[in-house]
Amino acid sequence: MKRLCITGGRPLCGAVATSGSKNAALPIMAASILARQPVRLEGVPRLRDVCTLADILRSLGMSVSRLPDGDLQLDTVESASVRADYELLSRMRAGFCVLGPLLARRGRAVVSLPGGCAIGDRPVDLHLAGLSALGAELKVQHGYVVGRAKRLVGAQVQLSGPRGPTVTGTANVLCAAVTARGQSVLRGAAVEPEVVDLGRFLNAMGARIEGLGTSTIAVEGVDQLGGARYRIIPDRIEAATLLLAVAISGGRATVEGLVPGHIDTVLAALERSGCSIDTTAHSVCLSGPERPRAQDICARPYPGIPSDIQAQWMAYLSLAQGHSTIRDEVFPGRFMHVAELKRLSARIASPGDGRVVVQGVERLAGAAVTASDLRASAALVLAGLAAEGETVVRDVYHLDRGYEEFDRKLAELGAQIRRIS
Ligand code: EPZ
Repeated sequence: MKRLCITGGRPLCGAVATSGSKNAALPIMAASILARQPVRLEGVPRLRDVCTLADILRSLGMSVSRLPDGDLQLDTVESASVRADYELLSRMRAGFCVLGPLLARRGRAVVSLPGGCAIGDRPVDLHLAGLSALGAELKVQHGYVVGRAKRLVGAQVQLSGPRGPTVTGTANVLCAAVTARGQSVLRGAAVEPEVVDLGRFLNAMGARIEGLGTSTIAVEGVDQLGGARYRIIPDRIEAATLLLAVAISGGRATVEGLVPGHIDTVLAALERSGCSIDTTAHSVCLSGPERPRAQDICARPYPGIPSDIQAQWMAYLSLAQGHSTIRDEVFPGRFMHVAELKRLSARIASPGDGRVVVQGVERLAGAAVTASDLRASAALVLAGLAAEGETVVRDVYHLDRGYEEFDRKLAELGAQIRRIS
């Protein structure tokens, strides 16, 4: 198992580039099943999750290859296969995004339910209700969703549940609606930039979608989609994580190649914590405070603070002056990182009312810790950057699922970080 060894205490400085967005790339790759001509994607990050989804798509008769210039090319070579296996889907939930495209393009789908997840309960009822509303016949059998659809028919679909809109559910239903007969209206749809990116990609292939970025998306069904050459948006979660890394280290550095408008709420919260921030059209330069000011953070759907950086905020606020509270409205139990942060001498309590209370300490102390999931592992690396002495983060494969060369990027900014087997 790979580990990261970090010697804390070095303020990060310099400049670093953002990679393409994982959570935009994955549904867009799945949506390529709909294309009748080849798809060429620019800016797809080199990540374990991307490799896993490529394997799922290959098992569904697609060719997926990296071109010499780094673009990803996808094309259907054989369309008889409709089974996405548990073996692959259990490694990555986003594989479930093949369900809508398979039903729309191939009329059949046998897709494994994604299974358990370290960040809490993640049902798919809204995906299934939405696809059923479009006329798909769906059954759950032996852990698989087994679906049939002749030609899907436009309908009114509700995509919001008790904790807000579903992101990948919106992706699945949107992909199914683009070639359905007639008009569909998706209400309570997710407004995340990654969903907008998927919609733009579908439009580039010939779909007719309006209202992207609002909670009501209107789709006029078309007979078929062609191919497209498309550039994936920058990864706002990676960008925000890098900015929090600079902030926690008390350094000054620029994160380049991002869309600052995608992280407005995060930048405002960083400023409130004492960071000073200069923004251009495609970059953010941040100077971290000596010690952050405490604040209350609540992760919410876009444009709120993303659940995907809640753990990294907790690492940062564990060094704040005063006490902060943290809640996650999207995944209320996504707090697996608390126990590991405590191993680094953070003072964190869970009073049992859904909040986590972080009493800031002056210093964290390096220790061996184990990553439980992707964003928790990023949080532990951030804490390690600020901790005294050496921090060893185990099970780094979680980090490699979603951050492209994270350790190399931090090293480029002056962090003392090395990967060991
Ligand atoms: C996406 O997951 C992201 N994954 C997650 O990123 C992210 O944390 C999440 O959205 C929230 O922003 C990808 O984009 C690949 P949801 P998704 O369906 O789509 C409830 C990361 O670290 N819900 O929007 O699976 C659900 O329980 C990952 O990169 C239902 O009730 O999340 C949750 O409370 C982790 N019924 C809320 O909605 C459903 O059918 C939002 O979940 C579906 C969801």
